[in-house]
Amino acid sequence: MSRTVETPTPKRFRVPHAAKLYHNLVPAYQAFWPAVAGKNMRAALARTDFPDGCRVLEVGVGTGLSLSSYPSNIQLTGIDLSEAMLAEAQALIEKNSWDHIAVQEMNAESLDFEDNSFDFVTSFHTISVVSNPEAMMSEIVRVCRPGGRVLIVNHFRSENPLIARVVDSAGNLTRLLGWRTDLKREVVRELPLRLEKCYKPNPLSFFTIIEAVCKPDEV
Ligand SMILES: C[S@@+](CC[C@H](N)C(=O)[O-])C[C@H]1O[C@@H](n2cnc3c(N)ncnc32)[C@H](O)[C@@H]1O
Repeated sequence: MSRTVETPTPKRFRVPHAAKLYHNLVPAYQAFWPAVAGKNMRAALARTDFPDGCRVLEVGVGTGLSLSSYPSNIQLTGIDLSEAMLAEAQALIEKNSWDHIAVQEMNAESLDFEDNSFDFVTSFHTISVVSNPEAMMSEIVRVCRPGGRVLIVNHFRSENPLIARVVDSAGNLTRLLGWRTDLKREVVRELPLRLEKCYKPNPLSFFTIIEAVCKPDEV
């Protein structure tokens, strides 16, 4: 009987589209993204009460734009698939001697953490970028403990059909940047999450902030 020996796929071919894209985009991203997105993250984090010593995971930490907005009395782990984005975050951590923060390369769709490992899971502007948003959200719920909290800032498809159609028409362009504009809020509604708040930072904002309690029935 003949056996086929499989040759492992080189890592560069396994990296999903979005991560390769962000790898190449780091300089452009650093130039414009803080102005577009920094304020929303800062506002969402400023409203969050992190108890002393709590374990926080940020999924899709990118270049670490959010990191200065967390308090220093927590243990924060940031993950991202792009080595180049993480290198920027790591440089920021070292420059500021943030001993309470560590970042590592990991796929949001298949997290390498035990169930219920975190008290808080946050994610900013990343669900629209990963290949499988449902898998990413299930992983967030899996690693967050019952009664823990989930904080998401993202663009979701408007429930106003007119606005949704206008934004959809930009989708072909944003898809080139690895960003889908048609993600529906159902991606979070169908999970064991109790939505506590779901609001826009201002009425014209492209982004929605979602605060939820994880696995409330298991508490
Ligand atoms: C729009 S950026 C947002 C970064 C950061 N949260 C921010 O708001 O500045 C999206 C990030 O998702 C990361 N990403 C894409 N697919 C991923 C995946 N499957 N797992 C982990 N990170 C991923 C990209 O590398 C990129 O850093």
